[in-house]
Amino acid sequence: MATKAFFYNLLILSLFIGGNCDVIFSIENKCTYSIWLGASPSNGDAIVEHGPDTLEVLTMSDPWTGIMFARTACSSNASFYFSCETGDCRTGQIDCQGPTPNFPVTLLNFGINQGQVSYEVNLNHGFNIPVRFQPDGGSLVVGGSGACPVVDCIQDLKNVCPSPLVATNKNGVYVACNSACDALKDPKFCCTGEFTGPACKPNEYSQRFKDLCKLAHTFPGDNDPPVYKCSGANRYYLTFCPS
Ligand SMILES: *[C@@H]1O[C@H](CO)[C@@H](O)[C@H](O)[C@H]1NC(C)=O
Repeated sequence: MATKAFFYNLLILSLFIGGNCDVIFSIENKCTYSIWLGASPSNGDAIVEHGPDTLEVLTMSDPWTGIMFARTACSSNASFYFSCETGDCRTGQIDCQGPTPNFPVTLLNFGINQGQVSYEVNLNHGFNIPVRFQPDGGSLVVGGSGACPVVDCIQDLKNVCPSPLVATNKNGVYVACNSACDALKDPKFCCTGEFTGPACKPNEYSQRFKDLCKLAHTFPGDNDPPVYKCSGANRYYLTFCPS
Protein backbone atom coordinates (compact mmCIF):
# COMPACT_ATOMS: atom_id res chain seq x y z
CA MET A 1 0.00 0.00 0.00
CA ALA A 2 1.42 3.28 -1.16
CA THR A 3 0.41 5.36 1.87
CA LYS A 4 1.89 2.84 4.29
CA ALA A 5 5.17 2.71 2.41
CA PHE A 6 5.21 6.50 2.41
CA PHE A 7 4.69 6.72 6.16
CA TYR A 8 7.27 4.02 6.87
CA ASN A 9 9.79 6.01 4.83
CA LEU A 10 8.82 9.09 6.77
CA LEU A 11 9.48 7.16 9.97
CA ILE A 12 12.96 6.14 8.86
CA LEU A 13 13.64 9.69 7.71
CA SER A 14 12.48 11.22 10.99
CA LEU A 15 14.61 8.77 13.00
CA PHE A 16 17.59 9.68 10.85
CA ILE A 17 17.14 13.44 11.08
CA GLY A 18 16.01 13.48 14.68
CA GLY A 19 18.72 11.31 16.18
CA ASN A 20 17.86 8.78 18.85
CA CYS A 21 16.58 11.14 21.54
CA ASP A 22 13.28 11.86 19.80
CA VAL A 23 10.25 10.03 21.07
CA ILE A 24 8.51 8.53 18.05
CA PHE A 25 4.94 7.27 18.15
CA SER A 26 3.71 5.08 15.27
CA ILE A 27 -0.04 5.41 15.48
CA GLU A 28 -2.04 2.84 13.59
CA ASN A 29 -5.79 2.69 13.14
CA LYS A 30 -6.81 -0.94 12.65
CA CYS A 31 -10.46 -0.19 13.31
CA THR A 32 -12.95 -0.68 10.51
CA TYR A 33 -13.95 2.97 10.98
CA SER A 34 -12.24 6.35 11.05
CA ILE A 35 -10.92 7.87 14.24
CA TRP A 36 -9.85 11.43 15.07
CA LEU A 37 -7.15 11.77 17.69
CA GLY A 38 -7.07 14.36 20.40
CA ALA A 39 -4.40 15.50 22.84
CA SER A 40 -4.67 17.53 26.02
CA PRO A 41 -2.70 19.72 26.40
CA SER A 42 -1.56 20.26 22.83
CA ASN A 43 1.43 18.18 21.81
CA GLY A 44 2.00 20.22 18.69
CA ASP A 45 0.81 17.71 16.12
CA ALA A 46 -1.77 18.09 13.38
CA ILE A 47 -4.86 16.16 14.33
CA VAL A 48 -6.76 14.93 11.32
CA GLU A 49 -8.98 12.06 10.33
CA HIS A 50 -7.33 8.65 10.53
CA GLY A 51 -9.11 6.33 8.15
CA PRO A 52 -9.17 2.55 8.62
CA ASP A 53 -5.81 0.84 8.13
CA THR A 54 -3.70 4.00 8.19
CA LEU A 55 -0.48 4.76 9.98
CA GLU A 56 0.79 8.08 11.23
CA VAL A 57 4.24 8.76 12.62
CA LEU A 58 4.51 11.49 15.22
CA THR A 59 7.58 12.95 16.83
CA MET A 60 6.27 13.76 20.28
CA SER A 61 6.88 17.01 22.11
CA ASP A 62 9.47 16.57 24.85
CA PRO A 63 8.81 17.42 27.63
CA TRP A 64 5.09 16.77 27.48
CA THR A 65 2.69 15.34 30.04
CA GLY A 66 -0.85 14.76 28.99
CA ILE A 67 -3.53 12.53 27.57
CA MET A 68 -4.21 11.17 24.12
CA PHE A 69 -7.51 9.69 23.09
CA ALA A 70 -9.51 8.82 20.00
CA ARG A 71 -12.79 10.38 18.92
CA THR A 72 -15.28 8.25 17.04
CA ALA A 73 -18.31 8.75 14.79
CA CYS A 74 -17.44 12.36 13.96
CA SER A 75 -19.08 14.57 11.37
CA SER A 76 -19.75 18.17 10.44
CA ASN A 77 -23.28 19.49 10.29
CA ALA A 78 -24.73 21.90 7.72
CA SER A 79 -23.07 24.88 9.42
CA PHE A 80 -19.68 23.10 9.49
CA TYR A 81 -19.80 22.44 13.21
CA PHE A 82 -17.66 19.36 13.84
CA SER A 83 -18.73 16.96 16.59
CA CYS A 84 -18.19 13.35 17.63
CA GLU A 85 -20.35 10.74 19.31
CA THR A 86 -17.45 9.85 21.64
CA GLY A 87 -14.56 12.01 22.80
CA ASP A 88 -16.11 15.24 21.49
CA CYS A 89 -14.07 18.35 22.23
CA ARG A 90 -17.02 20.79 22.22
CA THR A 91 -15.22 23.39 20.08
CA GLY A 92 -16.83 22.61 16.72
CA GLN A 93 -13.33 22.27 15.25
CA ILE A 94 -11.79 19.13 13.79
CA ASP A 95 -8.52 19.90 15.56
CA CYS A 96 -8.64 18.87 19.20
CA GLN A 97 -5.39 20.09 20.69
CA GLY A 98 -5.97 21.26 24.23
CA PRO A 99 -9.55 20.71 25.39
CA THR A 100 -10.41 17.85 27.69
CA PRO A 101 -12.84 15.63 25.77
CA ASN A 102 -16.30 14.55 26.74
CA PHE A 103 -16.10 11.28 28.61
CA PRO A 104 -16.27 8.31 28.25
CA VAL A 105 -12.98 7.80 26.43
CA THR A 106 -10.21 5.26 26.74
CA LEU A 107 -7.37 7.38 28.12
CA LEU A 108 -3.73 7.06 27.26
CA ASN A 109 -1.74 8.93 29.90
CA PHE A 110 1.81 9.89 29.02
CA GLY A 111 4.69 11.67 30.67
CA ILE A 112 7.53 12.40 28.27
CA ASN A 113 10.75 13.89 29.57
CA GLN A 114 14.26 13.78 28.13
CA GLY A 115 13.44 10.84 25.91
CA GLN A 116 11.87 8.77 28.68
CA VAL A 117 8.20 7.86 28.51
CA SER A 118 5.79 6.94 31.29
CA TYR A 119 2.61 5.34 30.01
CA GLU A 120 -0.66 3.72 31.02
CA VAL A 121 -4.02 2.78 29.59
CA ASN A 122 -6.59 4.19 31.97
CA LEU A 123 -10.32 3.46 32.17
CA ASN A 124 -11.08 5.90 35.00
CA HIS A 125 -13.11 7.94 32.52
CA GLY A 126 -14.60 4.96 30.74
CA PHE A 127 -13.93 3.18 27.48
CA ASN A 128 -14.70 4.06 23.87
CA ILE A 129 -12.15 2.12 21.84
CA PRO A 130 -9.72 -0.81 22.20
CA VAL A 131 -6.05 0.21 22.32
CA ARG A 132 -2.56 -1.21 22.65
CA PHE A 133 0.61 0.70 23.50
CA GLN A 134 3.79 -1.21 22.78
CA PRO A 135 7.37 0.03 23.22
CA ASP A 136 9.87 -1.27 20.66
CA GLY A 137 12.96 -2.02 22.73
CA GLY A 138 14.12 0.09 25.65
CA SER A 139 14.27 -0.77 29.30
CA LEU A 140 12.19 0.11 32.34
CA VAL A 141 13.37 2.84 34.66
CA VAL A 142 10.20 2.93 36.80
CA GLY A 143 7.73 0.13 37.51
CA GLY A 144 10.19 -2.75 37.36
CA SER A 145 13.29 -3.66 35.39
CA GLY A 146 14.07 -5.26 32.08
CA ALA A 147 12.14 -4.86 28.84
CA CYS A 148 9.38 -2.23 28.59
CA PRO A 149 6.04 -4.07 28.74
CA VAL A 150 3.00 -3.61 26.54
CA VAL A 151 -0.14 -2.13 28.09
CA ASP A 152 -3.52 -2.48 26.45
CA CYS A 153 -7.25 -2.90 26.56
CA ILE A 154 -7.87 -5.03 23.50
CA GLN A 155 -11.33 -6.33 24.29
CA ASP A 156 -14.36 -4.24 23.41
CA LEU A 157 -16.07 -3.59 26.73
CA LYS A 158 -19.36 -3.06 24.91
CA ASN A 159 -20.56 -6.56 25.72
CA VAL A 160 -19.89 -6.28 29.44
CA CYS A 161 -20.85 -2.64 29.99
CA PRO A 162 -23.35 -2.64 32.90
CA SER A 163 -26.55 -0.83 31.88
CA PRO A 164 -26.15 2.09 34.36
CA LEU A 165 -22.84 2.89 32.67
CA VAL A 166 -23.91 2.72 29.03
CA ALA A 167 -23.40 5.90 26.99
CA THR A 168 -25.64 6.27 23.94
CA ASN A 169 -25.86 8.56 20.93
CA LYS A 170 -28.89 10.69 20.14
CA ASN A 171 -30.62 7.65 18.64
CA GLY A 172 -30.20 5.69 21.86
CA VAL A 173 -27.57 3.35 20.43
CA TYR A 174 -24.60 2.25 22.58
CA VAL A 175 -21.43 4.21 21.76
CA ALA A 176 -19.20 3.83 24.82
CA CYS A 177 -19.05 2.72 28.44
CA ASN A 178 -18.73 5.18 31.33
CA SER A 179 -16.67 4.61 34.44
CA ALA A 180 -18.69 4.01 37.59
CA CYS A 181 -17.33 7.27 39.06
CA ASP A 182 -18.46 9.39 36.09
CA ALA A 183 -21.88 7.74 35.70
CA LEU A 184 -22.88 7.26 39.34
CA LYS A 185 -20.84 10.03 41.04
CA ASP A 186 -20.40 7.94 44.18
CA PRO A 187 -17.31 8.82 46.30
CA LYS A 188 -16.82 5.08 46.77
CA PHE A 189 -16.22 4.65 43.01
CA CYS A 190 -14.34 7.95 42.64
CA CYS A 191 -12.07 7.31 45.63
CA THR A 192 -12.80 10.72 47.08
CA GLY A 193 -13.79 11.84 50.60
CA GLU A 194 -13.53 8.96 53.04
CA PHE A 195 -12.58 6.61 50.19
CA THR A 196 -9.05 7.88 49.60
CA GLY A 197 -5.80 6.01 50.20
CA PRO A 198 -6.18 2.44 51.45
CA ALA A 199 -9.99 2.83 51.47
CA CYS A 200 -9.95 3.15 47.67
CA LYS A 201 -10.94 -0.30 46.46
CA PRO A 202 -11.96 -2.03 43.25
CA ASN A 203 -15.73 -2.29 42.84
CA GLU A 204 -18.14 -4.52 40.96
CA TYR A 205 -17.97 -2.22 37.92
CA SER A 206 -14.20 -1.76 37.80
CA GLN A 207 -13.86 -5.52 38.26
CA ARG A 208 -15.77 -6.14 35.03
CA PHE A 209 -13.32 -3.91 33.19
CA LYS A 210 -10.38 -5.64 34.89
CA ASP A 211 -11.59 -9.11 33.97
CA LEU A 212 -11.20 -8.22 30.29
CA CYS A 213 -8.41 -5.65 30.46
CA LYS A 214 -5.84 -6.75 33.02
CA LEU A 215 -3.16 -4.36 31.78
CA ALA A 216 -5.33 -1.26 32.11
CA HIS A 217 -6.04 0.81 35.21
CA THR A 218 -9.70 0.44 36.09
CA PHE A 219 -10.30 2.60 39.18
CA PRO A 220 -8.44 5.56 40.75
CA GLY A 221 -6.33 3.42 43.13
CA ASP A 222 -5.46 0.75 40.58
CA ASN A 223 -1.69 0.34 40.46
CA ASP A 224 -1.52 -3.13 38.97
CA PRO A 225 0.40 -3.07 36.70
CA PRO A 226 2.36 -0.02 37.91
CA VAL A 227 2.67 3.04 35.68
CA TYR A 228 5.70 2.09 33.64
CA LYS A 229 8.46 4.43 32.55
CA CYS A 230 10.59 3.38 29.61
CA SER A 231 13.95 4.63 28.43
CA GLY A 232 15.76 4.01 25.17
CA ALA A 233 12.93 2.55 23.07
CA ASN A 234 13.32 2.91 19.29
CA ARG A 235 9.71 3.93 18.98
CA TYR A 236 6.30 3.28 20.49
CA TYR A 237 3.45 1.61 18.66
CA LEU A 238 0.02 2.97 19.52
CA THR A 239 -2.64 0.83 17.89
CA PHE A 240 -6.39 1.33 17.93
CA CYS A 241 -8.54 -1.82 17.56
CA PRO A 242 -5.39 -3.97 17.67
CA SER A 243 -6.96 -7.43 17.39
C1 LIG B 1 -24.66 22.57 14.02
O1 LIG B 1 -24.35 22.27 15.38
C2 LIG B 1 -24.20 23.41 16.22
C3 LIG B 1 -23.76 22.91 17.61
O2 LIG B 1 -24.62 21.95 18.08
C4 LIG B 1 -25.50 24.18 16.27
O3 LIG B 1 -25.33 25.33 17.08
C5 LIG B 1 -25.91 24.56 14.85
O4 LIG B 1 -27.18 25.18 14.88
C6 LIG B 1 -25.98 23.33 13.98
N1 LIG B 1 -26.29 23.69 12.60
C7 LIG B 1 -27.26 23.11 11.89
C8 LIG B 1 -27.48 23.62 10.51
O5 LIG B 1 -27.91 22.18 12.34
